Amino acid sequence: MEENLDNIRKTLRKYSQEHLLNGYEKLDEVKQRQLLGQIETTDFELINSLYHNTRKELEKSQDVITPIEFLDKDNLNGYYRGFIEKGEKAIRAGQLAAVTMAGGQGTRLGHNGPKGTYDIGLESHKSLFELLSDSLKEQGRKYDVIIPWFIMTSEENNKDTIEFFAKHRNFGYEKDKNLFFFKQGELPMVDTEGKILIGENGLIKSAADGHGGIYESLVKNGMTKKMRELGVEWLFIGGVDNCLVKMVDPLLMGIAIEKQVTAAGKSVVKANPQEKVGVFCKKNGKPSVVEYTEIPEEMAQATDENGELIYGESHILCNLFNINAVERMGSKPLPYHSAFKKATYIDKDGNKVVPDGPNAYKFEAFLFDAFGELDDMAILRVKREEEFAPVKNAAGVDSPETARELYRKFYQL
Ligand code: UTP
Repeated sequence: MEENLDNIRKTLRKYSQEHLLNGYEKLDEVKQRQLLGQIETTDFELINSLYHNTRKELEKSQDVITPIEFLDKDNLNGYYRGFIEKGEKAIRAGQLAAVTMAGGQGTRLGHNGPKGTYDIGLESHKSLFELLSDSLKEQGRKYDVIIPWFIMTSEENNKDTIEFFAKHRNFGYEKDKNLFFFKQGELPMVDTEGKILIGENGLIKSAADGHGGIYESLVKNGMTKKMRELGVEWLFIGGVDNCLVKMVDPLLMGIAIEKQVTAAGKSVVKANPQEKVGVFCKKNGKPSVVEYTEIPEEMAQATDENGELIYGESHILCNLFNINAVERMGSKPLPYHSAFKKATYIDKDGNKVVPDGPNAYKFEAFLFDAFGELDDMAILRVKREEEFAPVKNAAGVDSPETARELYRKFYQL
């Protein structure tokens, strides 16, 4: 262990991260081993470059953004039936799996515990997880199959999530048979000087690597392998916080199959040019999403001859992928974006610091940054009130209150 420790000290010196061992002597043996393990598996070059990127002025993007074609669910006319039949056939054949991204921290909501355990205040007091499971089971019954459910958790909430499911008898699902939990990756957080933070437990303070981590973690954790064993060919990937998410949609599947594309995404019309959502587009000829922070004002305002926004198809984290595409995307690294967050940590003198405001960078990959790997993507415009009731903020827009109302209206409660 001593020799190992010497090597580790050398590495830390090289990257000016020696402070990581400041509290080492005070840790018990298990924690000491954990900390050394963390240090050994940290990619310091990556962290260094991510930190330096946060220092750079935002470079002006050279990307060429153009509109993307889409189909409107309300305007499919004669094609509707054909798509539905194709999709239903594939669902009945057990080709679909549902994947729920539940690894987020839900900071804006401020709920203590995994976001999926949140009760949006319906009379039934069902959690988001239960609402999702209700719809999944109902759809399964309709097509005479059990749709296997894969849930992405984070290192932070994995245990609580699994315990919550167990407490509710897995909502009728069978763990490791048709219900699977897996963990997404994480990356260390750094302060404004580029120093990696030590958390209250004496170990490196890490944070989930963003929803873009899903492809890699599906592959690394053997989930795509498991899906293949189950005969799955298509994965619907959605967020945990949209209580109207339609994970089983023959229309979306039928369109993907008929158009022979490896992915299909749902959009809703952007409420107004200023709405803070990303919109589907093409970036250098490939499917993509342009964030509201990135889209130039005149592009955000531009309308077509019918007065509709040209960049108006909001990305709502409701996408379907062929399993081959997921495996391909999972083998390529995605770019990381940084977010400045509030993080409690232990300083170099061993004191706990609870900051008043953001003090550290967290690095995240975005799901849609992988879309450029796809040959093409079919976009289906659906109705907001039928499929999109997100729970993001504690109050106001996209809050439990708005989601609850949409849910009640849709299910006529
Ligand atoms: P958001 O980007 O809205 O993040 O996630 P969030 O964690 O729910 O909320 P804030 O930003 O901290 O307030 C959209 C979806 O992606 C999942 C979330 O659980 C949610 O379903 N997600 C996000 C992950 O699974 N992992 C991540 O690292 C980030």
